[in-house]
Amino acid sequence: MTKHNESLSVREKFAHSYLPRLVGMLALLFACCVSAQQSGQQPDPQQTPGFTENGIDSCLLCHDVERMRLIAHTPHGKRDNPDTPFAKHGCESCHGPGSLHASRSRRGKGRPPMTTFGAGTNTPATKQTAACLACHDKDMGELEKMEWTGSTHAIAELEGPDGVKSRLSCSSCHEIHVTENPLEDQKTQAEACYRCHEKMKAQHPKFEDKGINIDNLTCWDCHDVHQLIPENAEQATR
Ligand code: HEC
Ligand code: HEC
Ligand code: HEC
Ligand code: HEC
Ligand code: HEC
Ligand code: HEC
Repeated sequence: MTKHNESLSVREKFAHSYLPRLVGMLALLFACCVSAQQSGQQPDPQQTPGFTENGIDSCLLCHDVERMRLIAHTPHGKRDNPDTPFAKHGCESCHGPGSLHASRSRRGKGRPPMTTFGAGTNTPATKQTAACLACHDKDMGELEKMEWTGSTHAIAELEGPDGVKSRLSCSSCHEIHVTENPLEDQKTQAEACYRCHEKMKAQHPKFEDKGINIDNLTCWDCHDVHQLIPENAEQATR
């Protein structure tokens, strides 16, 4: 030891050796905290919803009304077809992962919303459509991949009462929580179309001179509404 060192006061010793170490340790601690926060990209079960363990049962615990139960008796409720929602994640195949929404431990913290369907819900139409196309954009057994992207109904924009424009979604025509699909009946299918095409009640061509009685046909017999092709490029890029 040099004389110089021996003469250092306690305070000076602290300043020269302990203080820098302390600052270093604090800096290290800080860095650890920050990196721990950043590594929140790894799924944190408190923040990122996953699929519930009990599937449909965990949803029916609260949503226990007839309308919710009857989906089990629709094509989507068939468990013997491996491609259906009920053979996969149940309600969550369409409404998204619901572990946090269904979690009791979050009482008082608010319930994170699920994907909802229809006009005027909080879920954007494109996200609603994506939830259905997650399955319907590929062949599933006898049911063929459906065409949708680029079709007239996919690119059309409707102006709501508040002036806000939005796209159509599958729910503009389809209903899911029903045992009788209204689009399969000629009359109720026409009603679904007339919600937007009311003018066609009076203005639709009748084709009587072609030997056709249009009243015996469904709209779908002539119009594949998933595939209607835009008339021109300007329409297609709207
Ligand atoms: C502990 C009770 C509880 C459980 C379990 C539960 N929910 Fe909910 N859910 C609610 C309540 C209450 C609402 C009403 C709005 C809110 O609090 O978000 C709601 C709202 C919803 C909505 C929106 C309805 C609308 O019209 O806006 C959907 C969709 C939904 N839940 C689906 C599910 C699904 C799917 C599951 C299973 C993963 C599930 N819920 C489990 C209580 C529950
Ligand atoms: C997990 C995959 C999956 C998702 C998600 C899904 N479907 Fe399906 N859907 C199927 C399968 C599989 C069938 C055929 C079931 C059968 O008849 O065996 C089907 C059948 C249908 C049918 C014909 C049913 C009938 O009444 O004949 C319609 C319409 C339909 N889906 C619309 C939708 C809409 C709209 C959505 C989104 C809200 C949706 N699907 C989401 C897998 C899915
Ligand atoms: C403009 C109205 C309309 C929209 C929007 C619409 N559909 Fe349809 N869809 C129909 C009609 C009408 C039928 C024929 C009746 C039936 O089988 O249900 C049909 C039939 C189907 C079928 C039965 C399969 C077949 O080819 O026979 C499936 C599956 C389906 N639609 C899925 C969807 C999905 C998924 C979306 C959204 C991406 C969607 N549809 C959007 C009107 C519509
Ligand atoms: C194939 C996709 C699909 C599946 C599977 C599905 N839903 Fe839905 N859900 C929808 C659509 C689309 C709507 C909008 C109304 C409609 O079409 O009937 C909806 C509406 C709802 C609503 C709003 C309230 C209402 O009465 O419309 C709730 C809550 C809900 N679903 C819960 C559930 C629960 C719980 C299950 C499982 C038992 C389930 N959903 C399964 C697509 C689905
Ligand atoms: C939610 C509103 C809505 C519903 C429901 C709806 N459509 Fe449409 N449809 C539109 C819009 C918007 C367009 C594009 C603008 C236009 O041509 O009116 C369109 C376009 C069309 C066109 C093409 C017109 C053209 O100029 O090329 C046909 C045909 C058509 N729809 C038939 C149907 C049939 C059949 C049904 C029922 C199965 C139906 N639509 C249900 C909104 C709707
Ligand atoms: C016999 C076949 C047939 C049936 C059934 C049919 N349509 Fe059409 N529809 C046509 C033809 C053909 C046109 C004219 C197409 C054109 O000139 O662009 C047309 C045109 C339309 C148009 C577009 C008009 C425009 O703006 O140019 C709409 C919307 C439409 N139909 C809706 C419906 C609805 C809703 C139903 C059921 C209630 C229906 N159609 C039943 C054959 C049919």
